[in-house]
Amino acid sequence: MKRTLGTCYYPEHWPPSLWEEDARRMVAAGLSWVRIGEFAWSRLEPRPDTYAFDWLDRALDILGHAGLRVVLGTPTATPPRWMLDRYPDMLALDAQGQPRRFGSRRHYCFSHAGYRAECARIATQLAQRYGNTPALAAWQIDNEYGCHGTALSYSAAAQAAFRLWLQQRYETIAALNAAWGNAFWSMDYTSFAQIDLPNLTVTTPNPAHVLDFRRFSSDQVLTFNRLQQEALRAHSDAPIAHNYMGRSVDFDHFAMGRDLDIAAWDSYPLGFLEDRIAASHQHKRAYARQGDPDFQAFHHDLYRGVGDGRWWVMEQQPGPVNWAPYNPAPLAGMVRLWTWEAFAHGAEAVCYFRWRQARSGQEQMHAGLLRPDGGAARGLAEVQQVAAEVAKAPPEAPTPAQVGLIFDYESAWAWEISPHGRGLCYFDLLLEVYRAMRGLGLSVDIVGTTAPMDGYKVIALPGLMFLPEPLHEALLQSDAVVLMGPRTAVLDAHFRTPVPLPVAVRGMDITVAAAESLRPDMPLRLKSGGQLGLYREFLEGGAQVVDETEDGSPAIMRQAQIFYAGGWLDEQGWQHLLRLACAQAGIETLALPPGVRRRQAGSEWFWFNYDTKEHRVNGMRLPPISLTRC
Ligand code: GAL
Repeated sequence: MKRTLGTCYYPEHWPPSLWEEDARRMVAAGLSWVRIGEFAWSRLEPRPDTYAFDWLDRALDILGHAGLRVVLGTPTATPPRWMLDRYPDMLALDAQGQPRRFGSRRHYCFSHAGYRAECARIATQLAQRYGNTPALAAWQIDNEYGCHGTALSYSAAAQAAFRLWLQQRYETIAALNAAWGNAFWSMDYTSFAQIDLPNLTVTTPNPAHVLDFRRFSSDQVLTFNRLQQEALRAHSDAPIAHNYMGRSVDFDHFAMGRDLDIAAWDSYPLGFLEDRIAASHQHKRAYARQGDPDFQAFHHDLYRGVGDGRWWVMEQQPGPVNWAPYNPAPLAGMVRLWTWEAFAHGAEAVCYFRWRQARSGQEQMHAGLLRPDGGAARGLAEVQQVAAEVAKAPPEAPTPAQVGLIFDYESAWAWEISPHGRGLCYFDLLLEVYRAMRGLGLSVDIVGTTAPMDGYKVIALPGLMFLPEPLHEALLQSDAVVLMGPRTAVLDAHFRTPVPLPVAVRGMDITVAAAESLRPDMPLRLKSGGQLGLYREFLEGGAQVVDETEDGSPAIMRQAQIFYAGGWLDEQGWQHLLRLACAQAGIETLALPPGVRRRQAGSEWFWFNYDTKEHRVNGMRLPPISLTRC
């Protein structure tokens, strides 16, 4: 498959006299894609039902004639001001009941029927007009669903829709009371009309209530998206994408992936390091100009799974961003390294955000490939270099990994609802296990609970609180070495503790008899080295004890090809367990130096050194900040 590069462009921000030159320079830089339009509603429809498509016609024409392929966004992340006059109640409300006001973006509520109809209308207009335009090569629906904490809304529209959703799910109020365990604290309802959204309660709301609200909110994002997907598909055969965000768990991305053709995500390695990663000060300092060595790869592997193989980076940071607590410039070579890492993990395209740095608006301090005056910004030369390299030697498709890591959005919500202790977060757990895998030189697929499991030699499902029956069966049938815990299969679909107590998998002689959360300053040493901290399960049963805590309780148990980790291990602890699992599965492991990572793509291995120091692995020299193919 051809690997390609592109950029995000806002013709409506620049005088039309610049467009031809911009298009020519994009092509000269080796770019073949340009994404436009995703925030342009007020310029496409300045007044209700009065369209102004002439400028977009012209922009598409110019970009297409220059040889660029256009990704056209539907502008629904930025409802224009007049929309509020039409629907004053379309704003999302936050958990405190405050409206998320006009003046930035993503201020709509997913449940508002009027706004949904407006979105379907503008998507239809765009599809009818541009669906068969030669330059149009793909669609993007909306922009970064859920970003800025926008998947959850506590509006009147959401409340009405939630009640309906519950009624469809439970049919009778008695069934809901039983499922939620409403005998607790006298929470029984006598009708669906009595059920509020689970905010503003005196103390914690019922976890089953919150879980259903999270499922409902996720479904609202899916159906909102589906309306536009259907509107576009009715008039156009071009593939349809959405650009997901990093560390975004508020809706089920695997479910949305099934409705779309391409999963794209927006990769901001330096912004994410400062803003979205729980890591030590030293770690953040060491990688301040490179980004975390695993965070991008984690999302590449996750969104490859979400897109069922077809995935892109729709926005790639090309220089300092503006929105993290600190926004340093990347080290020379990093823009190239990030791009190649995406390709090594199978990206079809990498597009840089943005072409030219803005002269006004909220993102004036955000770098582009060009400076505001049109001069080349620092990232541009690296992009040109990658374009030349990819043209000469494109990578092969990524080899299906031998290790599968299961990621589940419902489990992420369940951990959030009932973490049991501060700092206990599903996303962090999965990232830590992934980091440990990468440190052993393993290539990993991140997949959902419904993905086929055959082909994997090791399957890890840490923290997967809900173990769906088909997956349970698949694991029992599989020859793979399976790695579970902590908190695997501890809940049924209604957030109830299964009785008999969790044993994770049928036939296993391991019971989680009790659990405790630990202060950060009370970790327990493991006999094998490493530590268990923050969360510990007291394991009982006749299975083999593989590792113990210093106070003599089993930390890892094993029965046949199943390992169970009874706690939150540190990197050394996970690596010890992963080495045992890999040895049993016949997979080679390495001990990579910090900052060194690799990924297999066909017959090639890609090695990435995020460190500012040179490293040697297996006699191979890896210069500082480098990419090595072998
Ligand atoms: C992304 C967003 C872009 C732009 C960018 C800045 O999250 O999709 O529109 O705001 O961040 O880094």
